[in-house]
Amino acid sequence: MARDAVWLSKGPTWPVSLGRRDGRVSYANETNQLPPPQADLTQLIQMFAVKGLDLKDLVVLSGAHTIGTAHCSSISDRLYNFTGLDNLSDVDPFLEKHYLAKLRSTCSPTDTKTIIEMDPGSFRTFDTSYFNYVAKRRSAFHSDWALLTDNFTRAYILKHANGFESEFFQDFAESMIKMGNVDVLTGSQGEIRKKCSIVN
Ligand code: HEM
Repeated sequence: MARDAVWLSKGPTWPVSLGRRDGRVSYANETNQLPPPQADLTQLIQMFAVKGLDLKDLVVLSGAHTIGTAHCSSISDRLYNFTGLDNLSDVDPFLEKHYLAKLRSTCSPTDTKTIIEMDPGSFRTFDTSYFNYVAKRRSAFHSDWALLTDNFTRAYILKHANGFESEFFQDFAESMIKMGNVDVLTGSQGEIRKKCSIVN
């Protein structure tokens, strides 16, 4: 699905292995392995590293935020309650101030329903403009901004803020294949589904 969504959004494509074993149950607490949008760089590096993904995978795969939306509740701490003081001055200091004002006009403090475009203006198109927004400190998440705090990831963002789309596409395809090979089930674990959306 991810491959096809990216391709339909005018992004790259990559081969996906068939006959993959899938789980028979889902555990909500396994989502703890996903980094939160509040993560700083150390936390992002660590959570990617335990899955065998490196710094380049981190910055390249974060580029997926060129498509899609986020709920206001995923960013409300940046707008209203960054350090727990819960007042109008308690904002993420690394969020560009005009963009902060714009996000505030869309998201009220307790809004759990409204969504924002993560790559405003081209959120249905897979392109490099996400990197341009990150470079200007106009990204949705603190975790996106955090990629500016390391020399390697920062350099990648600044380069791709100005194009080099085909390089990003190639990198993205490679990192997606790598991520697709994380924690693959083998032997008698799970099952190969007859229909991909349901257990056999
Ligand atoms: C680097 C760490 C990452 C963090 C902290 C993160 C965080 C988030 C959050 C909080 C949302 C919005 C959820 C919501 O409010 O509805 C989101 C959406 C999204 N993320 Fe990430 N993400 C990360 C990495 C990735 C990766 C590796 C990919 C894929 C390669 C990805 C693809 C997406 C997409 C496509 C959406 C939009 C979903 C939609 O439109 O419903 N993200 N991410």
